[in-house]
Amino acid sequence: MKIALPSDAMVVLVGIAGSGKSTFARAHFAPTEILSSDAFRAVVADDEADQAASEDAFALLHIALALRLRRARLAVVDATNVEEWGRRQLLDIANRTQRPSVAIVLDIPVAVCLARLTSRGIRPVPPHAVRRQQRDLRRSLAGLLEEGFSAIYAIDSPEAAATVHVERIAPVSAARDVMSRRNRARRDDARSSNRHRNA
Ligand code: CTP
Ligand code: MG
Repeated sequence: MKIALPSDAMVVLVGIAGSGKSTFARAHFAPTEILSSDAFRAVVADDEADQAASEDAFALLHIALALRLRRARLAVVDATNVEEWGRRQLLDIANRTQRPSVAIVLDIPVAVCLARLTSRGIRPVPPHAVRRQQRDLRRSLAGLLEEGFSAIYAIDSPEAAATVHVERIAPVSAARDVMSRRNRARRDDARSSNRHRNA
């Protein structure tokens, strides 16, 4: 699967614990492009598993996201993002900075994720929490386009995840600039031909 990403996009990874979001992010993006909720929990609380630090961690993540997007720097949000209200906050930031938003959904079978989490050992996520995330994810899938994402890619197996090729394409904001430059050129042409006609 080929994923074409405008170089100024907000990329939202969506997937339950163990679905491979962080692994996917590391494989396809530079460390500075990845905004991870776990990393921001560690920044504020020295513990990436400290769920009580989530509010502060996301406050920082949102600021970093807005500042990167303002500079037209690609930003990848590595968090579960299975709840609509959480995605809404991210989409508001992308819209405010006029950047495209791309959702990449890692819709990996829950049994695969639970097995991976067990073998990962560190930072165990209780199975009931993973199943709740799975219910939220299922509920989310149909409505993502309506929420306002510019593009949505769904990856439904580890095999499919392994074949993903991420390609960077021209930034949408630059496309907008080119468009307005073209319109300006057309307007100037029209004006000069009017002048000739009037002369
Ligand atoms: N993993 C794997 N094969 C993949 C992707 C991930 O074996 N194709 C393993 C990773 O090495 C890790 C575990 O599965 O041990 C979970 O992957 P991770 O990328 O950490 O999943 P996340 O979705 O980031 O999980 P979390 O939400 O808990 O951060
Ligand atoms: Mg992770």
